[in-house]
Amino acid sequence: MINRKMILSLIACALFTVTAYCQNNSAVDSLKGLKEVYAGKFLIGTAGDLKGYSDAELANIKKNYDILTPENCMKPQPTHPTEDTYSFDTPDAMVKWCQQNGVKVWGHTLVWHSQTGRWFFQGADGQPATRELALERLKKHIFTVVGRYKGQVRGWDVVNESIADSGAGKTENLRKFSWYKTVGPDVLTMAFKWAHETDPNAMLFYNDYNIEQGAVENNGKHASSMILLKRLIAEGAPISGVGIQGHWHLDTNIGDVEKAITDYASLGLKVSITELDVTATGSNSGAFGVRTGDRTIPKENYLKQAEVYRQLFEIFKRHADVIDRVTFWGISDNRSWRRGQDALLFDGKLQPKPAFNAVIEVGSK
Ligand code: G3I
Repeated sequence: MINRKMILSLIACALFTVTAYCQNNSAVDSLKGLKEVYAGKFLIGTAGDLKGYSDAELANIKKNYDILTPENCMKPQPTHPTEDTYSFDTPDAMVKWCQQNGVKVWGHTLVWHSQTGRWFFQGADGQPATRELALERLKKHIFTVVGRYKGQVRGWDVVNESIADSGAGKTENLRKFSWYKTVGPDVLTMAFKWAHETDPNAMLFYNDYNIEQGAVENNGKHASSMILLKRLIAEGAPISGVGIQGHWHLDTNIGDVEKAITDYASLGLKVSITELDVTATGSNSGAFGVRTGDRTIPKENYLKQAEVYRQLFEIFKRHADVIDRVTFWGISDNRSWRRGQDALLFDGKLQPKPAFNAVIEVGSK
């Protein structure tokens, strides 16, 4: 009888010790920031211009992130609103804060069809600019902006979102307006060469959304991205990697994400996840997804969101050798282009959500 009692109490004691250890362990881990948990695997980043951020928001960035992407302030429209005007106050202040607080910076972006002054494409007398004029302007823009932050940024999204949506994946399927109409497909290679000439040590990326789509079946936007990247490499573009933006949702095809990473790595390129968010409600359908959220998001959606983040970070960990950086597009559900869709790891009051715990758990394993 005594023996039985002793054995039972020994088991109870052991169970208590294991439970206490586990609780203690996860408590310790949750005190760690994201960047500490993923140190040695890949950089963890976020996006924001920092202007008007509270002390609590800045402290959150310092604790959790290795690297910051300016959400808007380094884009062509804000930095170069007219041909003769540049504006660097916001990005200069952002870079300075990062330098003072041990946070790296990623440049975003140089060649884009959006947030780019129309003046780039206008010639004299209301005529469209010639190819030569547009190229001359682009070259000057790249030399000026990349030159200003030379040695201060880890790299640049040189080209953003040049592939059109809904293609079958048989061609590059470049957009038919903006740079692609005024200059043509070779604008991409020239932009990479000018950026490299200006800052030879910067990593130079092609960045786009939904380019993982079709990876498993080798069609759609993913197949187009592979055709485009092979051409850029063949033309001698000094490209270091591909940014998969990662604007995802609860039913994103996770299989495509892993296959896309291995496909890009097979071209000898690094991969980054550059604008990660996973909507807790609604889709990820580009601009149409903005602020279409619903304030009565059911609790189980947040658990499902945590599960999607868990699976994604398990993939990222498996491919840590080719992944340079995983950057979230914002710090909280309040600082997100998807306001109303609660797509990030911290809620509007900067409190960690189940998704944060899932990402920490994967990194701590
Ligand atoms: O700065 C003006 C301000 O002066 C004006 O009063 C206000 C009125 O609406 O607009 C402000 O500009 C807004 C800007 O963000 C800065 O807040 C624009 O309207 C708004 O359209 C713009 O949205 C940005 C969007 O890019 C533009 O395409 C989002 O914040 C930014 O998160 C988003 O980021 C893009 C990436 O660069 C590329 N990949 C997709 C990603 C999400 O769309």
